[in-house]
Amino acid sequence: MIVLGVESSCDETSVSLSRDGKTILSNVVLSQIDLHKAFGGVVPEIASREHIKGITVVFEQALKEAKLTPSDVDLVAVTQGPGLIGSLLIGINAAKAFAFANDIPIIGVHHIAGHIYANQIASDMVFPLLCLVVSGGHTELILMRDHFHFEKLGETKDDAIGEAYDKVARVLGLPYPGGPAIDRISDQGQSSYPMPQIQVEGFNFSYSGLKSHVINLVNTLRMKKEPIDVASMAKSFQEAAVAHVMDKSIQAFNAYDVKMFMIAGGVAANRLLRQNVEKTFGDGLLSIPAFKYCTDNAAMMSIAGYYQYQKQKDTATMALNGYSRLNL
Ligand code: KG4
Ligand code: ZN
Repeated sequence: MIVLGVESSCDETSVSLSRDGKTILSNVVLSQIDLHKAFGGVVPEIASREHIKGITVVFEQALKEAKLTPSDVDLVAVTQGPGLIGSLLIGINAAKAFAFANDIPIIGVHHIAGHIYANQIASDMVFPLLCLVVSGGHTELILMRDHFHFEKLGETKDDAIGEAYDKVARVLGLPYPGGPAIDRISDQGQSSYPMPQIQVEGFNFSYSGLKSHVINLVNTLRMKKEPIDVASMAKSFQEAAVAHVMDKSIQAFNAYDVKMFMIAGGVAANRLLRQNVEKTFGDGLLSIPAFKYCTDNAAMMSIAGYYQYQKQKDTATMALNGYSRLNL
């Protein structure tokens, strides 16, 4: 079964073709990062316009790289939400037009299901499993007892971890996106700045206190005209940020009898998190997506689409719509 995946929920225009929910035949990702850099974050209006400019070329390129024609495609899987509504609608309308013109069934897929299924590319999921989702908009612990069965054990009560990375990077004068910038510069620092111990009940998360602590600390030092060691501030923040998701993951892992541990989302590209997860869960079944499948891409959407279709069998109509907020 050939699935064509489409992803346009934020600032990446991407189309991918995969076979039988496993083999990635192509994964074309057109990133807008350089355009948004000047503004220190994603500008939704610019993002929508760039998706419009790129989407048909990305469709054509993905088919070409996979050496396939539209008639080879059995299913179209498009990100339905959550995300920037203007951006989502470009991918959805392009996917619907492609599906309608070529008489192919179409389904809408949740963006986070896509991130989770990036794990299925390298190794098969073994249930029950625990997945730590860490992205720009989400920080969640998900229990899966089967394919496309998502039980949320906890989530962030305020900011997502990626959001905290991006805001802290911004106050430190590091380029957008902040996550990779903090990840890199931390190598040159020491964990010399004290950070607060994050307290939140159950398997939930909280990042606004840590984020505000760093912003206040930086502003106070600037007001006093005292020097700021950016690399050490980045490292101190990163260690506290990663320690929080690790603490909650270990607690949940011990509370549920799971066979596998996985991480998913843009922050899963973080080297310190990957090292910690390897160290802690590496003795058992562990899945960490390849770097290229951590941040937004259509390969993960096409794999998720395959499993969603196997499980639910129902397809959407041409009334398929996008949603800026959507429950998993
Ligand atoms: O999953 P994603 O591409 O988009 C969303 O669905 O949100 O995640 C983007 C987030 C951004 O906040 C970015 O700063 C963060 O992932 N990120 C990282 C790293 N690479 C991307 N955070 C920490 N370390 C990284 N290496
Ligand atoms: Zn994402």
